Amino acid sequence: MKGKFVTFEGLDGSGKTSVLKRIEKYLQQKTTINYLLTREPGGNQIAERIRQLLLDANSLGMDSRTEALLYAASRRQHLVETVLPALTAGKLVLCDRYVDSSIAYQGAGRQLGEAEIAQLNNFATDGLQPELTIYFDVPPAVGLARINAHRVNEINRLDQESEIFYQRVRRSYLKLNTTFPERFIKIDATAELSEVSNETLRVLQNRLPLIFKS
Ligand SMILES: Nc1ncnc2c1ncn2[C@@H]1O[C@H](COP(=O)(O)OP(=O)(O)OP(=O)(O)O)[C@@H](O)[C@H]1O
Ligand SMILES: [Mg+2]
Repeated sequence: MKGKFVTFEGLDGSGKTSVLKRIEKYLQQKTTINYLLTREPGGNQIAERIRQLLLDANSLGMDSRTEALLYAASRRQHLVETVLPALTAGKLVLCDRYVDSSIAYQGAGRQLGEAEIAQLNNFATDGLQPELTIYFDVPPAVGLARINAHRVNEINRLDQESEIFYQRVRRSYLKLNTTFPERFIKIDATAELSEVSNETLRVLQNRLPLIFKS
């Protein structure tokens, strides 16, 4: 495959979507890089419908394993329909969340077991790992405070999780960071948005010099 697959991870409110918007602006205005910005789960019709089911406030009674399977199903469809064609076309693929989110949220947060969720996702992705994962690290309270400060009367099912849940999720991300030192890059995301964005761009430039050389 000619393209490069980069994923972005972190707690809710850690700034993934905000930083990716800035990176996209940079790519558009300052480079001729052929890229695809997409998100997990979703990005195509089937996966978006699964996402709606997952985030629906009415799905509160959803069983944890059902949730894990739906995320994996959505991921599979997104991979096949959206990510793989872009990689085959040689694009830089920037993906907001991927397998590590499931390991951290379903494996550790919901306590289904990180190894079990890794295995489930290995089946869903046929083992496709990103080249690079940028992880935005914040304590749960920081992420939750940001979300609450900017909330416009919208609440989804995951927002209702406790801080203890998010602590388990963060610990799991930090564990992945030590398990995969080559792939995983941790960024302190408590800093100002412009600082986090600049640091993210530096990491991309350093790790993908051939793409960013122009
Ligand atoms: N570094 C930052 N400092 C202060 N506020 C920030 C920072 N980064 C993002 N925010 C604000 O925090 C809120 C959440 O950010 P954002 O939506 O980018 O997080 P996210 O990681 O994409 O969350 P989710 O996983 O829920 O999609 C937004 O309102 C955003 O403007
Ligand atoms: Mg987001």
